[in-house]
Amino acid sequence: MRIAVLLSGTGRTLENLLLHFPIALTISSRNNIKGNDVARLHNIPLEITKDNDRIFAILDEHKIDLVCLAGWLLHLNPPEHYNEKIINIHPSLLPKFGGKGMYGHYVHEAVLKAKEKESGCTVHYVDSIYDHGQIISQRKVSVLETDTADSLAAKVFVQECALYPEVIKVILAKNNLL
Ligand code: GRF
Repeated sequence: MRIAVLLSGTGRTLENLLLHFPIALTISSRNNIKGNDVARLHNIPLEITKDNDRIFAILDEHKIDLVCLAGWLLHLNPPEHYNEKIINIHPSLLPKFGGKGMYGHYVHEAVLKAKEKESGCTVHYVDSIYDHGQIISQRKVSVLETDTADSLAAKVFVQECALYPEVIKVILAKNNLL
């Protein structure tokens, strides 16, 4: 099995995935982010690009079976042969609080503002619309009146760390890639 991770930020999700799977390739959309250091520290090939065609050419070149977005912030326009081969984890219960600009603390602030009683995380397939592809699985957390965006983010991230590897294992097993 060959897993690629696409990142734009701190690489915490990459670090979590590395506890469970070998990662064959990382693609970063930015220079000078912590996530790039995580990839380098683990000797994982790292490419830095924002170009959609280049991204998919690199993934093809590395014969990647599954692409995991891990804090990736750019819009992707995947070619057809990547249908159901790209997944993302989003820090809300989609379809609520998704879409362009809904990432990081913006998500949790919106959840608190809407006085939601619960939030959580969602793993979904990626298509060419932000946070839109088919939902695969979700985990929930309670939202307390005392929660701040930071405390909620921390609670949701704990669930992300459990959910993402769980879903990846199921996908790999289904495709005989384990
Ligand atoms: C998490 O909120 C995750 O839901 C979203 O990106 C954040 C993690 O980014 N997709 P990072 O791994 O800390 O860079």
